[in-house]
Amino acid sequence: MILLGIETSCDDTATAVVRDGRDVLSNVATNQDAFHSKYGGIVPEIASRQHLALLSAAVEDALERAGVTLGELDGIAVTAGPGLVGSLTIGVASAKALAYASGVPLYAVNHLHGHIFAAFLETDALPAYPFLALLVSGGHSQLVRVASELDLTVLGKTRDDAAGEAFDKTARLLGLPFPGGPAIDALARDGDPKAFAFPRHTPDAGTLDMSFSGIKTNVRYFLDTEAGRRANRADVAASFQAAIVDVLIDRLDRAYTLDPTYESVVLAGGVAANSALQSAFRAWAARHRVTAHIPPNTYCTDNGAMIAAAGYRQRRALEADPRSLTANPNLPFSIAR
Ligand code: KG4
Ligand code: ZN
Repeated sequence: MILLGIETSCDDTATAVVRDGRDVLSNVATNQDAFHSKYGGIVPEIASRQHLALLSAAVEDALERAGVTLGELDGIAVTAGPGLVGSLTIGVASAKALAYASGVPLYAVNHLHGHIFAAFLETDALPAYPFLALLVSGGHSQLVRVASELDLTVLGKTRDDAAGEAFDKTARLLGLPFPGGPAIDALARDGDPKAFAFPRHTPDAGTLDMSFSGIKTNVRYFLDTEAGRRANRADVAASFQAAIVDVLIDRLDRAYTLDPTYESVVLAGGVAANSALQSAFRAWAARHRVTAHIPPNTYCTDNGAMIAAAGYRQRRALEADPRSLTANPNLPFSIAR
């Protein structure tokens, strides 16, 4: 089953053609960073205008590189939310027009589902339900119990900034470019993660919520002190990153302690590309003898392939679920694909 995935929820104009939710036949990512970086963050109006300018070519590119025509697709999967409304609207309107013009079915995909199912792209591994997903991006940070393709429950989430947002804001304090996550990750490689002990958010036992804005604020106050002004920036970056990773792994550990029946865990979202978080996540999984799934870095940050992957799983689940069956007075004679 070959699906076109379209993702425009934020500032990436991304398209991809994916076979069976796994094999990426093409992946086109048109990054808008150059348009937003001078503002130090994403400007929603600029993002939607850029999507409008870039999306048609990105769709054509994805089809051409995959060697398929629109009519040969088995479906189009598009991010329906959550995200910036103007940005989402461009993707949804375009996908509807393409589906209408070609007669190909359209699937509305939740952006967060997309991040989670990115972990099963380009691998023979299949999701084993239920699994636990640690989803960390620029807009979200949450622990999710994934009981099936369609049954996802948020167990805990950030009470303030998302982890990626904390990376971006702290990078700005350190004079690093936007997006800050990759910049901090790179700088931290030369730093000592134990140089400064920024306080970790530690709620009552059993609580799975998280908080990251305190860590960022602590870095800000520290940089204003005499010691902060003299501090090695790589040490500050590494210590900040270590604090974020500690909070995330602590909440993962708490979730697992509450229900130690999970046999696999997924790390997803843009921050899943972080090298320190990946190492800590793998080490945690090895200690608990659970399988760790982490998407390749290209599929951690927003992309079209993850939307096609989630669309595929959703479609398979709906086909298999008798509750999705509806009477169709115009049922075609041949419905086999
Ligand atoms: O998933 P994503 O592309 O967009 C959202 O859905 O939000 O995530 C973007 C976030 C940004 O905050 C970016 O700084 C962060 O992911 N990020 C990273 C790394 N690569 C991207 N954060 C830490 N380390 C990285 N290597
Ligand atoms: Zn995202």
